[in-house]
Amino acid sequence: MTRKEQYQQLIPQIAALIKGETNVVGILANVSAALHESFPERFFWVGFYLKQDGEVLRLGPFQGSVACYTIPYGKGVCGKAWEEGRTLIVPDVEKFPGHIACSSLSRSEIVVPMYDSSRRFYGVLDVDSTHIDDFNTDDKEGLEHIVALLMAEVKEVTMQPLC
Ligand code: SME
Repeated sequence: MTRKEQYQQLIPQIAALIKGETNVVGILANVSAALHESFPERFFWVGFYLKQDGEVLRLGPFQGSVACYTIPYGKGVCGKAWEEGRTLIVPDVEKFPGHIACSSLSRSEIVVPMYDSSRRFYGVLDVDSTHIDDFNTDDKEGLEHIVALLMAEVKEVTMQPLC
């Protein structure tokens, strides 16, 4: 199965998984788990960093090895995706200036910024692969679609209670 076909199969499953659910932590945890399980061996870290008070992202639900708690605006791939307001694909993390290395297993990375319906920045979806140059436009489209689905579901809820 191609990567594109994998997303085509996964997207309706994720839509069904989160539909009608109001528990944001649960939704984000389940989406992380679904992605992590769908691309075993490759997507070794899948999770969310969420904007809270101040200009920082804080670690949210994820699947994978332990990760750093805080990423400032403009820092690392996550902070850069926030600053630039667009999905960033990093084919080789060692060549990305300022990359924040949480694990030496990470070789390439994609970060998708998340916005609510008022275009307010909410956080990012971050996926790390054990393979160099593992992400392409199929991943960008697939992951952006998944982020759109879950932002439609979590629109009324903030992550504030996690503080
Ligand atoms: N590599 C990210 C940090 C988070 S970890 O990959 C889980 C970055 O540079 O923003």
